Amino acid sequence: MVEPIHLPSRADRSAALERAGHNVFNLDSEDVFVDLLTDSGTGTMSTAQWAAMFEGDEAYAGSRSFHDLREAVEDVTGLPHTIPAHQGRGAENALYGTLLSEGDVVLNNTHFDTTRAHVANQGAEAVDCPVEGAWDHDSEGEFLGNFSIEKAWDVVDEVGADRVTVVVSTITNNSAAGQPVSLENLRETAQFARDIDALFVLDACRFAENAYFIHEAERSEASERASGETASREREAGQHDRPLAEIARAQFDDADAVVVSGKKDGLVNIGGFVACREESLADRVKARTTLYEGFPTYGGMAGRDLAAMAVGLREAVEPPYVADRVGQVAYLGDLLADADLPVFQPTGGHAVYLDAGAVLTDIPAERFPAQRFVCELYRESGVRAVELGEFAFPGAGRPQLVRLALPRRTYTREHLDHVADGVAAVADRAGEYEGLEVVTEPPMPELRHFSARLRSVPA
Ligand code: F0G
Repeated sequence: MVEPIHLPSRADRSAALERAGHNVFNLDSEDVFVDLLTDSGTGTMSTAQWAAMFEGDEAYAGSRSFHDLREAVEDVTGLPHTIPAHQGRGAENALYGTLLSEGDVVLNNTHFDTTRAHVANQGAEAVDCPVEGAWDHDSEGEFLGNFSIEKAWDVVDEVGADRVTVVVSTITNNSAAGQPVSLENLRETAQFARDIDALFVLDACRFAENAYFIHEAERSEASERASGETASREREAGQHDRPLAEIARAQFDDADAVVVSGKKDGLVNIGGFVACREESLADRVKARTTLYEGFPTYGGMAGRDLAAMAVGLREAVEPPYVADRVGQVAYLGDLLADADLPVFQPTGGHAVYLDAGAVLTDIPAERFPAQRFVCELYRESGVRAVELGEFAFPGAGRPQLVRLALPRRTYTREHLDHVADGVAAVADRAGEYEGLEVVTEPPMPELRHFSARLRSVPA
């Protein structure tokens, strides 16, 4: 599908920003030229996916499309039991609602927002275990998304092993700059979970991109120039000669259960699933799915959407696709790094993360420098990014990040050049901007960034 886009005039962009209360979630997509708000459900489907949709089986129970999906999930992950859900957070509700009770503790390399919210909704506690340096854009490291076993043992010492019932690894680690997790770390994390008698879950919505990083031999030119190392070394020892699909599948070898938002590496606009190794757990998840999502062979999805996701999951591990995908993100990351902008490198799999706090240094965290950056980027270039700093995570003490997430199979290099020019133009006038303050916000603080309105105030 081809969709026309247009760049509104600067005056129109400024007016749209005012109407939106300086919150780009309140912008209409018609007012956006290049939309990098999220990579979730925003990609383009293939001819094979559209063809599969025409053959979708809309039966309420036991549809052919469900069996196609179940087979695809088993081929790609090795897990035999699949329970569809309308999207990732539906799958999270089905799984974590089944597994967790009041007082439990969940450890995760970093909880994504909806994961944290579902853990909290069960009266359980979400604790992040990122590795040292995960929040620092200057950090060097191939697998900065890893789960810190050391930190996890500290938590166990503090709260007791009995309370830690679920251990999660999120691949790639979306909240920590989209950085990958190594196979070795997945094995160690699974062993840690076994040692404390906890269940090991993979939040695997970007499983193909993560597998690509494990497989990768050559780093991007820019990071190579920075590190001065040769291009030919492997990221993870012994992995470069393995087929990508085999690595993708190996990631799931030790997982007891998997939650996936199909809107990422399922290459669909809507959908998700839980997959389980044991039938007994699958049966419990099915019971909750029936309550909240739908009969467990469709779980809130139309048959045609199940069919498209079955095809998408296989396409996601085709080497030319995923090399192009991660390469495009690296291309944008390299453009910004070459312009001396503080971006995380190596670039993550789905997005470029810019440390806006290190650019708009006159604006303190409580005046939302990253949100200001997002607003000015839209005003400058019609590009919509998203803030992941003090505005989205009040009081979390995280860096003031701007995320530029690339929809899959959608934009061209010209679009990315335009984005990079816009980012550089905003950074060039770093000293000129005011800060922001919240004027109205919703009652749940976790949801503030989705709908709050802000106004300019002196930094
Ligand atoms: N887990 C991770 C790691 C995610 O990145 C997301 C969604 C979800 C779960 C929830 O899936 O949206 O289908 O309900 N991330 C999107 C983003 C929204 O922009 O990063 P969902």
